[in-house]
Amino acid sequence: MEEGRESWGTRVGFILAAVGSAVGLGNIWRFPYLTAKNGGAGFVFFYIFLLILIGIPVMIAEFILGRSSRRSPVQALSQAGENNWGGLGYLFVLTGFGILSYYSVVAGWAIKYTLDALGGILMQSDPQKYFESINTGGEAVFYHLLFMAVTTGIVLSGVKKGIERSVKLLIPLLVVLIAGLAIWAFSQPGSLAGYAFYLSPDFDVFINTYQVNIFGLSEFSLTFLNLSLLASAAGQTFFTLSLGMGAMITYSSYLSSDEDLIHESMIISFSNFGISFLSGLMIFPIIKAFNLSEAISESTLGTLFITIPKAFQQLGNFYWSSALSFIFFVCLMLAALTSAVSLLEVVTSTLMDEINVKRKPAAAGSGLAIFLAGIPAAISMKWLAKADQIAGHFLLMLGGFLMAIYVGWIMKGAFKELKKGLKTEEAILPWTILIRYIVPPALLALLCTFTWEISLELWALIGG
Ligand code: PHE
Repeated sequence: MEEGRESWGTRVGFILAAVGSAVGLGNIWRFPYLTAKNGGAGFVFFYIFLLILIGIPVMIAEFILGRSSRRSPVQALSQAGENNWGGLGYLFVLTGFGILSYYSVVAGWAIKYTLDALGGILMQSDPQKYFESINTGGEAVFYHLLFMAVTTGIVLSGVKKGIERSVKLLIPLLVVLIAGLAIWAFSQPGSLAGYAFYLSPDFDVFINTYQVNIFGLSEFSLTFLNLSLLASAAGQTFFTLSLGMGAMITYSSYLSSDEDLIHESMIISFSNFGISFLSGLMIFPIIKAFNLSEAISESTLGTLFITIPKAFQQLGNFYWSSALSFIFFVCLMLAALTSAVSLLEVVTSTLMDEINVKRKPAAAGSGLAIFLAGIPAAISMKWLAKADQIAGHFLLMLGGFLMAIYVGWIMKGAFKELKKGLKTEEAILPWTILIRYIVPPALLALLCTFTWEISLELWALIGG
């Protein structure tokens, strides 16, 4: 087994693949949509806070696990012998499966936008009406199918190297486009209100106050940290960094021992954060400058897809507008593809290892099953939002929680592994404190918040 194992030719190869997995719809579609849905800056602040407190430590934990075992997630987790955590690998599969089922629907919208940008239709349509006409139904199913077919093709034939290399070109291009739009948005009258919404939090959003009334006898108010906002921000941290479902374990399993894991995780996390942050700097000023708040609030899921065509339409030159929006959606589509490949790879490699199927049938079978499971999301936006909440928030956090416990408390040799290649040994202590004492209780509290909220919703649904 061991000899035949591939490893990254260069350190850059690994970073590119990890960044390729991290940067995707999570940064450009999901981050602005969640920020809009959760009232703006408060969400952004919680997200930055959790990125440092939880995201980076968990990423380091995944790297330790991947590099030390040099195996796919289930095998990495079942190596420990007396403590068999292999079952966690199945949770990863379920999560990857669930996320990709709707992720591919959104990526399918990007394909449709790309084609219609090329054909000029996008620049001639009303952005909100256009989005509503394509987001669900036959076409949405068709483009979802197309996207899944391409993703499956890549995983099936193992030509991942090529698409990893394309990250080198793609991400800088995307950054230039987003930055260009952000600068242009800045120059538009009325854009200032966008920065206020995005960057200056109202203190009230950080806390929740409840009025408690005890049998009419006494009344008082209780103030808590806004756990529900924190839980959404934590979910986004996991999603955007591709954590909590084994993708980073898989990628780091090809890593050599002289890599500084803490350093690499910082590079990946912060460059990923930079792209999300920039997307916000592009979207929110545009929303305010062109009064799109209402169009968006009806469909927060469409935040990106309504805002971007509107901005390009304002450029005034049909050909330029069409060409630039075409490039934008091509980049978005490809960024989604590099992430989708990492999602499908986890599902596929687990099937290969656990039930001994070959790569081709494993990839084709899971690709097809994910396509079928995604059809409801291509028919109903409500379903899409729910799937995003359950697989994209809850299951990822659950996976991250269990992994923190495993690497922090149970796994043997975790600290020794971290030390290899490390340039600053002082970083070990803060990481240890975070992964053992901060991450597990914090995630547990947030998981409980989620469970509570979902039960309330279910309760309301059955007419309670
Ligand atoms: N991080 C990817 C994105 O932001 C999505 C993803 C989530 C990929 C989980 C792998 C695992 O688009």
